[in-house]
Amino acid sequence: MIKNGNGVDETSLNGKPPSASEVQTVELVLPNDTNLLGNLLGGRLMHWMDLAGAMAASRHANSIVATVAVDSLDFRHPVRQGEMVILKAKLTWVGNTSMEVIVRAYAENMISGNVILTNEAYFTFVALDENGRPKKVPPLVPETEEEMKACREAEERRKKRLQRRGK
Ligand SMILES: CC(C)(COP(=O)(O)OP(=O)(O)OC[C@H]1O[C@@H](n2cnc3c(N)ncnc32)[C@H](O)[C@@H]1OP(=O)(O)O)[C@@H](O)C(=O)NCCC(=O)NCCS
Repeated sequence: MIKNGNGVDETSLNGKPPSASEVQTVELVLPNDTNLLGNLLGGRLMHWMDLAGAMAASRHANSIVATVAVDSLDFRHPVRQGEMVILKAKLTWVGNTSMEVIVRAYAENMISGNVILTNEAYFTFVALDENGRPKKVPPLVPETEEEMKACREAEERRKKRLQRRGK
């Protein structure tokens, strides 16, 4: 039996469903978040997405996490100053120390009530111990058909990422 510093047996971590660590955050697009056209800066949105994903991964792993990869990120619609950005992050797959999280960003116009999906991307995070080294994470237990599908498809995405990384 391998015990960590808190006396927890790390070889028998209990599995958790994606719903247990799901995160939703909301941001208001203020003038400082926009470009000269009054549209949300892409870098600001990426930052918010990274944070939402990291919180979901941290919640699953009960640990500090680091971002190691972000898959492609398309900007489909401009988000205007004064709109809300809703960020939803959910685990789709876990490995030994790494976790894949899908983060979706929606823009909500409070005046019209319209909500549109503007971006989605897969982020990979690694759980870190107190020395900054990768640490084992609990298994993920998908519950719904959609979660099971996302988990199956994640293996293929991971292969491509590792090829890109050269491992
Ligand atoms: C996180 C870090 C300590 C991991 O160290 P490492 O030497 O890469 O560790 P490993 O090679 O054992 O990889 C750890 C896990 O990450 C996965 N991983 C690493 N790079 C990856 C990538 N580009 N894509 C997908 N998975 C990756 C590995 O497959 C492994 O997964 P597993 O344990 O589930 O099988 C190191 O990569 C690091 O410090 N990176 C910088 C993180 C950072 O600063 N991020 C930005 C700010 S948060």
